[in-house]
Amino acid sequence: MNATMSLDNLKHYPVMLDQILSIISPQHGGTFIDCTFGGGGYSRAILKYPGTKVLAIDRDKTIKKYAEKLSEEFPNRLNFYRNKFSSLGQLINSKENPKAIIFDLGISSIQLNDNQRSFSFNSKNDLSMEMGLNKYTAYDVVNNYDKKYLSKIIKILGEEKDSKKIANAIIKYREKKPIETSDQLANIIKNAKKNYNSYKKNQLQMIFHLFL
Ligand SMILES: C[S@@+](CC[C@H](N)C(=O)[O-])C[C@H]1O[C@@H](n2cnc3c(N)ncnc32)[C@H](O)[C@@H]1O
Repeated sequence: MNATMSLDNLKHYPVMLDQILSIISPQHGGTFIDCTFGGGGYSRAILKYPGTKVLAIDRDKTIKKYAEKLSEEFPNRLNFYRNKFSSLGQLINSKENPKAIIFDLGISSIQLNDNQRSFSFNSKNDLSMEMGLNKYTAYDVVNNYDKKYLSKIIKILGEEKDSKKIANAIIKYREKKPIETSDQLANIIKNAKKNYNSYKKNQLQMIFHLFL
Protein backbone atom coordinates (compact mmCIF):
# COMPACT_ATOMS: atom_id res chain seq x y z
CA MET A 1 0.00 0.00 0.00
CA ASN A 2 1.52 3.37 -0.90
CA ALA A 3 1.35 6.40 1.36
CA THR A 4 -1.65 7.96 -0.42
CA MET A 5 -3.76 4.79 -0.40
CA SER A 6 -6.16 4.50 2.54
CA LEU A 7 -7.83 1.29 3.63
CA ASP A 8 -11.08 2.56 2.10
CA ASN A 9 -9.42 2.59 -1.32
CA LEU A 10 -8.47 -1.08 -1.23
CA LYS A 11 -10.31 -2.97 -3.94
CA HIS A 12 -10.43 -6.47 -5.32
CA TYR A 13 -11.24 -7.07 -8.98
CA PRO A 14 -13.07 -10.39 -9.30
CA VAL A 15 -11.50 -12.92 -11.63
CA MET A 16 -13.35 -15.18 -14.07
CA LEU A 17 -16.62 -13.43 -13.28
CA ASP A 18 -18.20 -14.05 -16.72
CA GLN A 19 -17.37 -17.75 -16.50
CA ILE A 20 -18.91 -17.98 -13.01
CA LEU A 21 -22.09 -16.17 -14.11
CA SER A 22 -22.47 -18.39 -17.15
CA ILE A 23 -22.24 -21.49 -14.93
CA ILE A 24 -24.60 -20.37 -12.13
CA SER A 25 -27.18 -18.52 -14.32
CA PRO A 26 -28.44 -15.87 -11.87
CA GLN A 27 -30.72 -14.38 -14.56
CA HIS A 28 -33.38 -16.88 -13.47
CA GLY A 29 -33.30 -15.64 -9.83
CA GLY A 30 -32.81 -17.77 -6.71
CA THR A 31 -30.60 -17.96 -3.65
CA PHE A 32 -26.81 -18.17 -4.04
CA ILE A 33 -24.15 -18.79 -1.42
CA ASP A 34 -20.88 -16.89 -1.80
CA CYS A 35 -18.47 -18.64 0.58
CA THR A 36 -15.59 -16.21 -0.05
CA PHE A 37 -17.22 -12.75 -0.24
CA GLY A 38 -13.94 -10.71 -0.39
CA GLY A 39 -14.69 -7.34 -2.01
CA GLY A 40 -18.14 -8.65 -2.96
CA GLY A 41 -17.50 -8.72 -6.72
CA TYR A 42 -19.28 -12.04 -7.27
CA SER A 43 -22.14 -11.18 -4.89
CA ARG A 44 -22.73 -7.79 -6.53
CA ALA A 45 -22.82 -9.32 -10.02
CA ILE A 46 -25.42 -11.87 -8.81
CA LEU A 47 -27.54 -9.26 -6.99
CA LYS A 48 -27.76 -7.16 -10.14
CA TYR A 49 -30.22 -9.77 -11.41
CA PRO A 50 -33.72 -9.25 -9.97
CA GLY A 51 -35.12 -12.09 -7.89
CA THR A 52 -31.72 -13.13 -6.53
CA LYS A 53 -30.62 -13.34 -2.90
CA VAL A 54 -27.08 -13.93 -1.60
CA LEU A 55 -25.88 -15.51 1.62
CA ALA A 56 -22.23 -14.52 1.95
CA ILE A 57 -19.42 -15.66 4.22
CA ASP A 58 -15.90 -14.35 4.82
CA ARG A 59 -13.51 -14.89 7.70
CA ASP A 60 -11.78 -11.52 7.30
CA LYS A 61 -12.64 -8.85 9.88
CA THR A 62 -12.21 -5.97 7.41
CA ILE A 63 -14.77 -7.34 4.94
CA LYS A 64 -17.95 -6.47 6.89
CA LYS A 65 -17.90 -2.88 5.63
CA TYR A 66 -17.91 -4.06 1.99
CA ALA A 67 -20.92 -6.25 2.79
CA GLU A 68 -22.76 -3.40 4.53
CA LYS A 69 -22.25 -1.18 1.49
CA LEU A 70 -23.64 -3.84 -0.81
CA SER A 71 -26.59 -4.41 1.53
CA GLU A 72 -27.48 -0.72 1.24
CA GLU A 73 -27.39 -1.05 -2.55
CA PHE A 74 -29.59 -4.16 -2.53
CA PRO A 75 -31.74 -3.95 0.64
CA ASN A 76 -32.91 -7.22 2.24
CA ARG A 77 -31.18 -9.39 -0.36
CA LEU A 78 -27.75 -9.97 1.20
CA ASN A 79 -27.03 -11.78 4.46
CA PHE A 80 -23.38 -11.60 5.46
CA TYR A 81 -21.74 -13.83 8.06
CA ARG A 82 -18.22 -13.24 9.34
CA ASN A 83 -17.18 -16.81 9.71
CA LYS A 84 -15.20 -19.63 8.11
CA PHE A 85 -16.91 -21.47 5.30
CA SER A 86 -16.29 -24.69 7.21
CA SER A 87 -19.23 -23.48 9.39
CA LEU A 88 -21.54 -23.37 6.36
CA GLY A 89 -23.70 -26.21 7.74
CA GLN A 90 -24.44 -24.27 10.94
CA LEU A 91 -24.95 -20.92 9.23
CA ILE A 92 -27.34 -21.84 6.47
CA ASN A 93 -30.88 -23.00 7.07
CA SER A 94 -31.53 -26.34 5.39
CA LYS A 95 -34.67 -24.85 3.78
CA GLU A 96 -32.59 -22.34 1.79
CA ASN A 97 -32.21 -24.63 -1.22
CA PRO A 98 -29.44 -22.61 -2.92
CA LYS A 99 -29.00 -22.69 -6.69
CA ALA A 100 -25.22 -22.56 -6.39
CA ILE A 101 -22.49 -22.45 -3.75
CA ILE A 102 -19.40 -20.53 -4.87
CA PHE A 103 -15.84 -20.67 -3.53
CA ASP A 104 -13.28 -18.20 -4.94
CA LEU A 105 -10.34 -19.56 -2.97
CA GLY A 106 -7.21 -17.58 -2.23
CA ILE A 107 -6.24 -14.17 -1.04
CA SER A 108 -7.84 -10.89 -2.12
CA SER A 109 -6.07 -7.73 -3.25
CA ILE A 110 -7.70 -6.05 -0.23
CA GLN A 111 -5.58 -8.31 2.00
CA LEU A 112 -2.44 -8.29 -0.17
CA ASN A 113 -2.28 -4.52 -0.54
CA ASP A 114 -2.80 -3.77 3.14
CA ASN A 115 0.82 -3.54 4.31
CA GLN A 116 -0.22 -3.73 7.98
CA ARG A 117 -1.19 -7.37 7.46
CA SER A 118 2.22 -8.39 6.12
CA PHE A 119 1.08 -10.54 3.21
CA SER A 120 3.38 -8.57 0.89
CA PHE A 121 7.06 -9.57 0.60
CA ASN A 122 7.98 -5.92 1.09
CA SER A 123 6.10 -5.38 4.33
CA LYS A 124 8.18 -4.21 7.26
CA ASN A 125 5.25 -4.53 9.69
CA ASP A 126 4.79 -7.28 12.28
CA LEU A 127 4.72 -10.72 10.67
CA SER A 128 0.99 -11.34 11.05
CA MET A 129 -0.47 -12.71 7.77
CA GLU A 130 -3.75 -13.43 9.58
CA MET A 131 -6.68 -13.89 7.24
CA GLY A 132 -9.10 -13.72 10.16
CA LEU A 133 -10.31 -15.99 12.99
CA ASN A 134 -6.83 -17.52 13.26
CA LYS A 135 -5.32 -19.12 16.34
CA TYR A 136 -1.75 -18.28 15.32
CA THR A 137 0.10 -15.60 13.39
CA ALA A 138 2.84 -16.24 10.82
CA TYR A 139 5.24 -14.95 13.52
CA ASP A 140 4.18 -17.81 15.84
CA VAL A 141 4.67 -20.37 13.09
CA VAL A 142 8.08 -19.35 11.74
CA ASN A 143 9.52 -18.65 15.18
CA ASN A 144 8.23 -21.74 17.03
CA TYR A 145 7.51 -24.70 14.76
CA ASP A 146 10.20 -27.37 14.52
CA LYS A 147 12.29 -27.88 11.38
CA LYS A 148 10.44 -30.96 10.19
CA TYR A 149 7.02 -29.35 10.45
CA LEU A 150 8.18 -26.09 8.85
CA SER A 151 9.71 -28.01 5.96
CA LYS A 152 6.45 -29.94 5.51
CA ILE A 153 4.38 -26.73 5.43
CA ILE A 154 6.74 -25.12 2.91
CA LYS A 155 6.83 -28.23 0.74
CA ILE A 156 3.12 -29.09 0.74
CA LEU A 157 1.39 -25.72 1.04
CA GLY A 158 4.13 -23.75 -0.73
CA GLU A 159 4.80 -26.42 -3.35
CA GLU A 160 8.50 -25.60 -2.81
CA LYS A 161 11.15 -28.11 -3.79
CA ASP A 162 13.84 -26.45 -1.62
CA SER A 163 11.68 -26.70 1.51
CA LYS A 164 14.35 -28.36 3.71
CA LYS A 165 16.94 -25.77 2.78
CA ILE A 166 14.52 -22.94 3.58
CA ALA A 167 13.43 -24.54 6.89
CA ASN A 168 17.13 -24.88 7.83
CA ALA A 169 17.76 -21.22 7.05
CA ILE A 170 14.73 -20.16 9.15
CA ILE A 171 15.97 -22.19 12.14
CA LYS A 172 19.49 -20.82 11.79
CA TYR A 173 18.28 -17.21 11.67
CA ARG A 174 15.90 -17.52 14.62
CA GLU A 175 18.65 -19.03 16.81
CA LYS A 176 20.11 -15.50 16.83
CA LYS A 177 16.92 -13.38 16.87
CA PRO A 178 13.22 -13.76 16.02
CA ILE A 179 11.97 -13.26 12.48
CA GLU A 180 9.78 -10.21 12.85
CA THR A 181 8.72 -8.96 9.42
CA SER A 182 7.74 -10.33 6.01
CA ASP A 183 10.70 -8.73 4.30
CA GLN A 184 13.06 -10.47 6.77
CA LEU A 185 11.38 -13.78 6.01
CA ALA A 186 11.49 -13.10 2.26
CA ASN A 187 15.24 -12.37 2.46
CA ILE A 188 15.92 -15.54 4.45
CA ILE A 189 14.11 -17.55 1.78
CA LYS A 190 15.81 -15.68 -1.09
CA ASN A 191 19.27 -16.27 0.40
CA ALA A 192 18.56 -19.92 1.16
CA LYS A 193 17.51 -20.51 -2.44
CA LYS A 194 20.40 -18.46 -3.85
CA ASN A 195 23.00 -20.40 -1.84
CA TYR A 196 21.33 -23.66 -2.68
CA ASN A 197 21.13 -22.85 -6.39
CA SER A 198 24.76 -21.71 -6.60
CA TYR A 199 25.82 -24.78 -4.59
CA LYS A 200 23.92 -26.99 -7.01
CA LYS A 201 25.35 -25.10 -10.00
CA ASN A 202 28.91 -25.60 -8.65
CA GLN A 203 28.24 -29.29 -8.10
CA LEU A 204 26.93 -29.63 -11.65
CA GLN A 205 29.88 -27.68 -13.06
CA MET A 206 32.28 -30.04 -11.19
CA ILE A 207 30.48 -33.06 -12.58
CA PHE A 208 30.61 -31.65 -16.12
CA HIS A 209 34.34 -30.85 -15.77
CA LEU A 210 35.00 -34.47 -14.80
CA PHE A 211 33.37 -35.61 -18.00
CA LEU A 212 34.91 -33.04 -20.34
C1 LIG B 1 -10.03 -14.32 -3.75
S1 LIG B 1 -10.92 -13.59 -2.43
C2 LIG B 1 -12.58 -13.60 -2.99
C3 LIG B 1 -12.91 -12.43 -3.89
C4 LIG B 1 -14.39 -12.32 -4.23
N1 LIG B 1 -14.85 -13.40 -5.06
C5 LIG B 1 -14.69 -11.00 -4.92
O1 LIG B 1 -15.28 -11.02 -6.00
O2 LIG B 1 -14.34 -9.94 -4.38
C6 LIG B 1 -10.91 -14.85 -1.23
C7 LIG B 1 -11.63 -14.47 0.09
O3 LIG B 1 -11.84 -15.71 0.79
C8 LIG B 1 -11.73 -15.44 2.17
N2 LIG B 1 -11.45 -16.72 2.81
C9 LIG B 1 -10.32 -17.47 2.75
N3 LIG B 1 -10.44 -18.59 3.47
C10 LIG B 1 -11.70 -18.56 4.00
C11 LIG B 1 -12.43 -19.46 4.85
N4 LIG B 1 -11.88 -20.60 5.28
N5 LIG B 1 -13.68 -19.10 5.21
C12 LIG B 1 -14.23 -17.94 4.78
N6 LIG B 1 -13.59 -17.06 3.98
C13 LIG B 1 -12.34 -17.37 3.60
C14 LIG B 1 -10.61 -14.43 2.27
O4 LIG B 1 -10.71 -13.70 3.48
C15 LIG B 1 -10.85 -13.57 1.01
O5 LIG B 1 -11.59 -12.42 1.33
